[in-house]
Parts: sequence; structure tokens; C-alpha cells
Amino acid sequence: MSAGVEVRVDGLSKSFGRSNIWSDVTLTLPPGEVSVLLGPSGTGKSVFLKSLIGLLKPERGSIVIHDTDLVRCTESKLYEIRKLFGVLFQDGALFGSMNLFDNIAFPLREHTKKGEKEIRDIVMEKMTMVGLVGDEMKLPGEISGGMRKRAGLARALVLDPEIILFDEPDSGLDPVRTAYLNQLIVDLNAQTDSTFLIVTHDINTAQTLPDNIGLLYRKHLAMFGPREVLLTSEEPVVSQFLNGRREGPIGMSEEKDSEQAAREMQEAGDLAGLPPLKPQLQPSPGVGERPAVGRRRARVRDMMHTLPESAQRAIRESMTSEGSGDESPGGPRRGRHGMDDAPTEQFRR
Ligand SMILES: Nc1ncnc2c1ncn2[C@@H]1O[C@H](COP(=O)(O)OP(=O)(O)O)[C@@H](O)[C@H]1O
Ligand SMILES: [Mg+2]
Repeated sequence: MSAGVEVRVDGLSKSFGRSNIWSDVTLTLPPGEVSVLLGPSGTGKSVFLKSLIGLLKPERGSIVIHDTDLVRCTESKLYEIRKLFGVLFQDGALFGSMNLFDNIAFPLREHTKKGEKEIRDIVMEKMTMVGLVGDEMKLPGEISGGMRKRAGLARALVLDPEIILFDEPDSGLDPVRTAYLNQLIVDLNAQTDSTFLIVTHDINTAQTLPDNIGLLYRKHLAMFGPREVLLTSEEPVVSQFLNGRREGPIGMSEEKDSEQAAREMQEAGDLAGLPPLKPQLQPSPGVGERPAVGRRRARVRDMMHTLPESAQRAIRESMTSEGSGDESPGGPRRGRHGMDDAPTEQFRR
């Protein structure tokens, strides 16, 4: 299994014709960590994932992986880099006429010269990881939505990706299936140490799964940073999202204009605060610790002084409950976390 790699996105902008989807998106996915990108429907989350794997070309900015800028590199280099990615598309994107085994084997047959014996070993290993042993001969149409997601996930894993992108893995699943899938995602992260980016608008997923959370809103990345920053933020858009409320800046079909949002917020009065911070999902017993946990702890400690007070408090509490947590704190690295501006300021754009 390959360990995760850092993905550095800087000043990225994407338009279709004259319609701008988002601009100036800057964030770093830390290696092996689980990051979630939240945002109302239609804000360009899928467009962002497609840009990361080079299916769409942003007109400005850079996406750097292993010292290669995907926005500017040659087609052949892009083809190489793309092999580092595993992607779980929204519907699993399985071939309807192929059984699960052949669906999962497909990338191996397409992109490698491996023989059928080795392919069988790899496919069975991944099917075991996602809990699909015994279902090899089934067709996608014969299984549940949750199983299709897991099959899509097994297929995303066969080339041992360093980065795994999930486009709304929880869409169309009931809360129980979503909980199982999220547990599976945590376990896979512990086993692979790959870098995960999960697009979702499921509140429970955002509260329990990630190390880091970003929010796409009003054509900008409103924030990106340790989970505690967003989950303790009292910005109206965040609390509307986390409480699943109608009142607030986010409208039904598109984002409301700020005047209407302000009016509603005033009418709604002093709205209930944020839900309490839920503990982060841990790997299942026997799976072992996620390798990224220690690295993240050192990283977050380094950037602690740049974070809002409420986030610092939540981080300190979680570190205490995790135990001593005394890895080497590392040097005074100040990475590009996209947190250099006060988060509050970023929401006002
Ligand atoms: N290939 C494309 N050509 C033109 N417009 C597109 C294309 N793909 C997406 N869009 C537009 O980009 C916007 C964001 O889409 P999307 O990324 O699917 O949103 P989300 O995943 O956040 O719900 C939408 O308005 C959509 O119509
Ligand atoms: Mg989408």
C-alpha cells in the first residue's frame, strides 16, 4: 500500500464560459489525513474533484502533487499522475453488464500488465476490505445502493491509490448504511494511509469523519482547516449547515442574496447555537491506529496560535482525551493551511 501524498491547491479558479463556479481556492490536503469538503448543492464540489484529477481544466491557479502542477503539465504526465488517484463517483459508476469481480478488476486489466492470477488476488483482497466476499458474480443491478458504493470503493482501491476522492459517498444511503460506510472509510484510511478527500453535505458525516473540513460557499472556499475550526464556528452559514435549518444564508435552490439572509437571521432571532462537538470516528477494534493521527497532532499544534479561541479549546480537549499525545512537535513549520486569514473575515466575501 502506498502512503498518502500531499495535495497543494493554490489560487484555483474555474469557469464554464462566462459563468464562474469558484475562484481563488487555496488549500492543502495533508498526507494521509481525511478531509471533507462541504457545500450547498451546485457550489461546484464535483467540479472541484474533477479538476483535481485533471478531467476539468481550471483557468487559474495550481494543483501540485509530487512537485508536478496538474494544471500545466503535459498530457502524458497527467496520465501518470492520474494513476495516483482512486475515485468513488456518486453512483459508484459501475458497468451494469459486468459482474462485481470484473468491475473491480477493470482498472487492473486496463492500466497494468498483471496476469489473471495476480488480478484475482488483488480483487479478492479489496473485496475483503469492503466486505463483499461472496458477491463476485452479482451484477450491479442485483445489489443494494450501499453494496454498489462498496464495490465502487473496492474498484477505487485496486491500483493502491495515494489519494482517494469520494463524491457524496453517503448520497442515497439511509443513516445506518451511512454510518457503516463512514466506519469503513475510517478503517480503510487506517489500513492505507492514503490521503482522503470526501465531498458531502451530510452533517453527521462532516461531524464525525474528517480531520479537516472545508466549506465551499458563495463561489469561494469559505474556510479550510482542522475539523474543530468549522465545528465550533458561530458563523451563520456554518450553524445553518450543522443544524440543517431553513433560516440562514443558504437558500433552497441557490444561495440567497445577503439581504434576504440577513433579514431572516434577524427574524429568527438569536438562533440556537452549534450542536455539541461529536467525537471523531475511530478505526474498528483490531484495525490499528490511523498513521496520520500523530502527524496531524504535531501539525495542528504548530498552527494552534493561528486558530480561533473556540477551536483551540476543542483541540486541547480532544488531545487530552486521546492521551498524552507527546510526539515530537516538529519545527516551526507554517504550512499553507488556507488559515492565514481570520476565518471570520473569509465568510464575509
Ligand atoms: N461540464 C460542465 N459544463 C458546464 N457547466 C458545468 C459542467 N459541470 C458542472 N457545471 C456547472 O457547475 C456548477 C457546479 O456543479 P457541481 O460541481 O456538480 O455542484 P455540486 O457537486 O457542488 O452540487 C453547476 O451549476 C453545474 O451546472
Ligand atoms: Mg456533486
